[in-house]
Amino acid sequence: MNPPRILVFDSGVGGLSVAQCIHRALPSARLVYLADNACFPYGDQPEELVTARCLQLIEASLKVYPSQLIVVACNTASTVVLPDLRASTHLPVVGVVPAIKPAAAVSENRRIGLLATPATIRRAYLDRLVDEFAADCQLHRVGHPALVRWIEDWVAGRALPEAELAEVLAPFREAQVDTVVLGCTHYPLIGQQLQGSLPEVRHWVDSGEAIARRTADLLDRAGYLPGDNHGKTPALDAMLFSGKVPPGIETFLPRLGLATGCFRGDWPSETVLPTAIGSI
Ligand code: DGL
Repeated sequence: MNPPRILVFDSGVGGLSVAQCIHRALPSARLVYLADNACFPYGDQPEELVTARCLQLIEASLKVYPSQLIVVACNTASTVVLPDLRASTHLPVVGVVPAIKPAAAVSENRRIGLLATPATIRRAYLDRLVDEFAADCQLHRVGHPALVRWIEDWVAGRALPEAELAEVLAPFREAQVDTVVLGCTHYPLIGQQLQGSLPEVRHWVDSGEAIARRTADLLDRAGYLPGDNHGKTPALDAMLFSGKVPPGIETFLPRLGLATGCFRGDWPSETVLPTAIGSI
């Protein structure tokens, strides 16, 4: 069978950290990147709204760009949308959860920091992950409301607020964690800056490579061949944004080793997406 196409979904540009890992693992797979940036950040939105918009946008994308697998490259969305999404499609769906299990496997002093959005920090499934995989660890949770916006702005060319970033990470320094979990797909994009701010942390863990491995495994089982178009065409067939195409994205993509054949903003113009709970 031909190289597969994979739909990668997030609320903003964070899922590009996952797309990068998938592209490295499966260089000839075609990717379509879909971002609901008109509704960004998802952490501020009611769960029902996130679910309704995810389902509608993914369905619309699959009509135009038929794909063989869906990756929900957003922790905040994955916590609420996966059951409904799996019920609505026959395609395999890969979601993302904070990498608590791998972190517990590498932490030597059993002190782990979790950096995530406030919405991810609050969700009950996180407590279940901790009980199951890190019950013998002290987990220090930092749920910061503005960090995802700072990263969207940084991708658009603005400087990161270094002093504020150091303040966000201060609880990890004080707790002397040796491992930090990046529980939001935006954060690996500024992995270097985070590591520079906390040089004493030994292990930085995110979910990108695990998602890429899971994706490769599911496609392999479905019989898709790696293909031989490596390097001949851009990794991304299209980047679709429900809002405006973010400024600076074109120059940012090559930094991740990615390129796209097309950008489409205000997409899909013909569909009326729910914008408030009352309109669902
Ligand atoms: N990249 C998303 C995540 O992994 C961003 C969160 C949001 O939109 O609130 O959670």
